[in-house]
Amino acid sequence: MTALPRSDVERFRTVVARRLGLHFDDGRLPLLAETLEQRLEALGRASEAYLGQLDAEPEKVEIGILATELTVSETYFFRNIEQFRATTQVALPARRAARLDTKRLRLLSAGCASGEEPYSLSILLREAAFDPSWSVAVRAVDVNPAALAKAKHGRYSRWALRETPAEVQSRWFSHEARGVVLEDDARALVHFEERNLAEENPDLWPCEAYDIVFCRNVLMYLVPETAQFVVEHIARSLAPGGFLFLGHAETLRGLSQSFHLRHTHGTFYYQRKEAAHLTPSAPAPALPASPMASSPLAAVVDGAESWVDAIRCASERIEALTRAPRPTPCAVGASPSELPPRWNLGQALELLESERFSDSLELVQSLPVEAATDPEVLLLRAALLTHGGQLASAEDTCRRLLAVDELNAGARYLLALCREGAGDGPGATEHDQVATYLDPAFAMPRFHLGLLARRSGHREEARRELALALALLRREDASRLLLFGGGFGRDALVALCRAELVACGGAP
Ligand SMILES: C[S@@+](CC[C@H](N)C(=O)[O-])C[C@H]1O[C@@H](n2cnc3c(N)ncnc32)[C@H](O)[C@@H]1O
Repeated sequence: MTALPRSDVERFRTVVARRLGLHFDDGRLPLLAETLEQRLEALGRASEAYLGQLDAEPEKVEIGILATELTVSETYFFRNIEQFRATTQVALPARRAARLDTKRLRLLSAGCASGEEPYSLSILLREAAFDPSWSVAVRAVDVNPAALAKAKHGRYSRWALRETPAEVQSRWFSHEARGVVLEDDARALVHFEERNLAEENPDLWPCEAYDIVFCRNVLMYLVPETAQFVVEHIARSLAPGGFLFLGHAETLRGLSQSFHLRHTHGTFYYQRKEAAHLTPSAPAPALPASPMASSPLAAVVDGAESWVDAIRCASERIEALTRAPRPTPCAVGASPSELPPRWNLGQALELLESERFSDSLELVQSLPVEAATDPEVLLLRAALLTHGGQLASAEDTCRRLLAVDELNAGARYLLALCREGAGDGPGATEHDQVATYLDPAFAMPRFHLGLLARRSGHREEARRELALALALLRREDASRLLLFGGGFGRDALVALCRAELVACGGAP
């Protein structure tokens, strides 16, 4: 363990976040401490002087050394191969059609590590057999000079090809004693550059120049401000209709409204809007960002046919149990005209918490007309409408919410419930899948996916989803359960989920 004072390590963390954009939580402070100690020893400097210079005017060489020590450069050829299938079958044909006039295609691999990703793209470009009159190229950038040196070498271990189809291996790699070498034709399309994505790089981000950007497994290591900064630059430098691929565990939720979400080939990716709103996305809404857990329990308890029935049953049951007088909006608080902009939804949420769903909906619907496009108001309204079984209105509200916030996981989940109510099982599954992609910690769409799978006889899939839902429900945010729980608390939802899991042969 290092002898450095914690304050020095904390300061180092701040400087690293500023200079490289890298995020280190407390659990990774020992790595920072060890790296700082090594650098001080190697340079023979005191921490005060070293940190001061790093903060004020860092040398490129030092940034490169720190990047080599502190970044994660794990990668391999055709990682998440479904994204390369989507590239070949969707993105490349679309961009080829869009660039018929200039016959110029530009791809960017941002955070390319040791080159496996941009080289995989260059193989796709070669296999797409562009006419020689086309100019196609891949620009590949990373802040880690050691990884880039390896990339330029073009030699890899066989393990780097673990996801590469055999026929691609035989076409594009030759074997040598210690591994494999990439063919020159594929290497020739890639140009590597040492770039720090956390810095201003005007020439890296020419306006609307790129057709496809791969920035995979990079944002997840960055502090939020740097991630937002990088995404904004990608949005500006992608051509309208251009494609962005992130790592499979990364999303643009809360980072940008400039993209449409696409879901094909079993993977998610993004397409820049034609007229992109090239501004940072609005701050995350104060309301919980996930869907409304209506009453999955009732499906079991009451034998209801669907979640939608279950929601309605739950509402009726709660209504009957409480028998509360129905207050007018004025009786529960300020009149709509007194509500400040950024609508005060506290009272509506209080009513929701007291299980007075229709009063809550009445209050929300009495908000001034200007509130009709507010994402928070729309989400709450959609949740309450779904809860009350008014599915056509709920679906309409969800779609209006998605028009202003396409990456809203809660709206997707509610839409899944509405689609199920309309007898559209595949549509329901699709929206739940989008919700779980956008917000992997969101328990309710997992739960719903498990129920849908069970009903369609896919027991193994049902077990997998329900087991995940059970784990997520135990730590789900309380306010999300309030909004999406359909009147059921955590314990009841956990019990129902466990019962469903057991019913399809899973361990509780
Ligand atoms: C896990 S690798 C991802 C490699 C490849 N994109 C993939 O998904 O297989 C992350 C890469 O991002 C790079 N990176 C992290 N911060 C960076 C920054 N500020 N500027 C440029 N590259 C950065 C790291 O050096 C590392 O090579």
